[in-house]
Amino acid sequence: MPGAIHAEGLVKTFGEVRALDGVDLDVPEGTVLGLLGPNGAGKTTAVRVLTTLLRPDSGTAVVAGVDVLKYPNEVRRSIGLSGQFAAVDEYLTGRENLRMVGQLYQMGAREAKSRADELLERFHLADAADRTAKTYSGGMRRRLDLAAALVVSPPVMFMDEPTTGLDPRNRQALWEVIQELVAGGTTLLLTTQYLEEADHLAHDICVIDRGKVIARGTSDQLKARIGGERVEVVVHEREHIAVAEHVLSVLGKGETTVREHTRKVTVPVVGGAKLLAEVIRELDTRGVEIDDIGLRRPTLDDVFISLTGHGAEDGGLDNGLESGLANGAHEGGK
Ligand SMILES: Nc1ncnc2c1ncn2[C@@H]1O[C@H](COP(=O)(O)OP(=O)(O)OP(=O)(O)O)[C@@H](O)[C@H]1O
Ligand SMILES: [Mg+2]
Repeated sequence: MPGAIHAEGLVKTFGEVRALDGVDLDVPEGTVLGLLGPNGAGKTTAVRVLTTLLRPDSGTAVVAGVDVLKYPNEVRRSIGLSGQFAAVDEYLTGRENLRMVGQLYQMGAREAKSRADELLERFHLADAADRTAKTYSGGMRRRLDLAAALVVSPPVMFMDEPTTGLDPRNRQALWEVIQELVAGGTTLLLTTQYLEEADHLAHDICVIDRGKVIARGTSDQLKARIGGERVEVVVHEREHIAVAEHVLSVLGKGETTVREHTRKVTVPVVGGAKLLAEVIRELDTRGVEIDDIGLRRPTLDDVFISLTGHGAEDGGLDNGLESGLANGAHEGGK
């Protein structure tokens, strides 16, 4: 498995915090794993361990066929990393930064130049290419850091929240570059806080929370677990709730949920927008007046609420007592 990532039982503590609390990860060669989790979940810590930047307290990891703890230098030769915190040289221009990476990897001068130009173009940095990175905005730095990670294409790549802070156009550009890389056989582990991104790019998704893997599977499997797409209808009259519930239970794929006080009826669906139109027609035929109707896709928050009983944001991770209580609740909930 020259391109695979395999980790078992990774534990890393920082004082009281168990940043990684027994994490197993498997990324088959040529696939993308999306490591999904809220702030403080342990994503960056996992990436740092796998990229040899941090030694775990215990556990094992093999990247590109090499033991990460025993032969870190060898692992470094087979991997690329783009971090959450940009590693660009402030005093070099964008172009110089990229050429320097090429040279570090022993590319010929001409190849390094053309690769640098191509990446500057793709990440919309061509106009700023000859300014020092010091003068770049936050989003420009992120893009330069990503470009630097892409100068060479090692068999295994790690990207820590690659699209955080990118505008939609640059996010799209990065998604395209990532898809090309993977089509070329690269194995990729990327972290993200966006379910949509993991959904779009990753073959497999691993959800972590407080240093533990709380769910894994393909995006479809996870969506099936958390309910996937739903149609939500808010009816105008309380008396119409029952009719709406009937319509949704016939057209939907699963159990309906009714919130009496908000007059909201929800049902899991397959078939998205087309089905939405059908729901509207059916309700109209039955004379049900609608205040609001929509197709809701699950968000990271839905994943967390459904898997852990708490939202992604209300973790209280910096408060030992609160997180201790919440962890207790996890165990009890299972
Ligand atoms: N060097 C460190 N010293 C002390 N605590 C640390 C250190 N690095 C990480 N932690 C703690 O470990 C936990 C996991 O942090 P990590 O950076 O891995 O989270 P993350 O999932 O990457 O979060 P984010 O989405 O904010 O980037 C957090 O509680 C964090 O405060
Ligand atoms: Mg992080």
